[in-house]
Amino acid sequence: MSNFYVTTSIPYVNGEPHLGHAMEFVMADVLARHARINHKPTLFSAGTDEHGGKIAEKAAELKLTPEQFADQMSQHFKQLLSDLNITNDFFIRTTDKDHEKRAQLIWQKLNAYIYKGKYSGWYCTGHEEYFPEKVVKANKGVCPDHNRPYEELTEENYFFKLSAFTAKIKQAIETDELRVIPDSRKNEILSVINDGLEDISISRPKDKISWGIAVPDDTEQVMYVWFEALMNYITVLGYPDGEDFKNFWPANVQVVGKDILRFHAAIWPAMLMGLELPVAKTLYVHGFIDINGKKMSKSLGNFVNPNEVIQKYSVDTFRYFFLRHIASWGDGDFSWERLEAAYNDELADQLGNAVSRTAAMITRYQKDLIGEIPAADHDIAAYKQAIADCRFDRALDSVWEQVRGLNQYIDETKPWEIAKTKDETHLREVLAYLAASLLEIAVLLQPFLPDTAAKIIEVFGSGVLKPLPESLFPKHEAAAKPKA
Ligand code: MSP
Repeated sequence: MSNFYVTTSIPYVNGEPHLGHAMEFVMADVLARHARINHKPTLFSAGTDEHGGKIAEKAAELKLTPEQFADQMSQHFKQLLSDLNITNDFFIRTTDKDHEKRAQLIWQKLNAYIYKGKYSGWYCTGHEEYFPEKVVKANKGVCPDHNRPYEELTEENYFFKLSAFTAKIKQAIETDELRVIPDSRKNEILSVINDGLEDISISRPKDKISWGIAVPDDTEQVMYVWFEALMNYITVLGYPDGEDFKNFWPANVQVVGKDILRFHAAIWPAMLMGLELPVAKTLYVHGFIDINGKKMSKSLGNFVNPNEVIQKYSVDTFRYFFLRHIASWGDGDFSWERLEAAYNDELADQLGNAVSRTAAMITRYQKDLIGEIPAADHDIAAYKQAIADCRFDRALDSVWEQVRGLNQYIDETKPWEIAKTKDETHLREVLAYLAASLLEIAVLLQPFLPDTAAKIIEVFGSGVLKPLPESLFPKHEAAAKPKA
């Protein structure tokens, strides 16, 4: 049985976790849970990215040391993972001593591709990224995402020979050795590569920024935050000699957002090639969540705290909304109205009702006795293909076709009419079929809505109905009412 390794990107700890972070965790969790259900030995890694100028700046504003600030903030991400029922095996922090030590080792191993030079470029600390002159000019010198001027940096630092890997990276992506999903992102990165990959600066002078991992054998320089952060995907497995590294690299799927495509589809593969390691098998690139049709941003102050959604609804409602109602291969919009509609129409009225109607009939007509449950018989090829393609929305669409089909079956077979005819055998068959279908749906829902799936299995799984204490998705008044 082949092993399965899935990663999320590691968020910066300069701000609170937001819906985008949460969605990424949930998507990767579906892949990990699905692999485990299919008996694959699985590792799932998440964590936090803690070095760099913007974290140092924020800590200073709060009169904390960067260490203190990062300690506090990384806890919030850890807590969110737990609140979302995420089954990550690791939580790596880039300030972990092990990561630092292994990052230095990786730097040394990449020595043949590292050289010292003079760098001149435009840097945005908000992005922790250099920008080409044409972008800086087009934006009139001010980063539109962070509302701060680009800094012109001219400094001595180390470079990584990214350009040397251009042809190999291009080939890996074109041949799907590194499969980039969706195709639109694959085309985007191929066009970046065709425009030419330039060598990148991978260190900063310590007197300009000290919050980073020291460059080996150079007391004047620290590593550029991105360069060492990318390494987390293998340092967490104990690169180079850890058993997990030997058994689980290359990753099966790396989940990242569209803004960090270039780092993961060009720089990271080049680093791996420099280390003579295989590239990841799949890079799944999700889109961005807007809020009420507007970009999430500090200046708009429109961040929604993932916990508010979890508390007002439930973890599974959270997972459901972001997996089905944000296009897996595109962007999407969050609003309380859309969430409320999905909750009422699909979770409560469709799934919740199918469960409660079936349970009520088994109680009323058969005193909770289900009897022998027939084997599941639906074709789940579309569901499986959707998960293989990271199309979580489509996978759930296919499950909901079954949910709708089940409600329709109840409406058409009218078990209450059968009950009147006293044809007990027929009634038992119909109700057992309903229970079987719900169990099948529950199994398909396990990676997506684990609590809900467990409850359905608990109710119908044993041949004797175990009544639900309350409906799966109770109507509730607390949530925001759709605006008129
Ligand atoms: N620290 C880097 C990642 C290093 S990985 C070696 C970083 N951090 S981040 O906090 O800015 O972003 C973390 C993830 O959240 C990224 O995948 C990013 O695309 C995602 N999102 C940030 N804003 C988002 C939305 N508005 N919507 C969906 N995802 C978004 O980049």
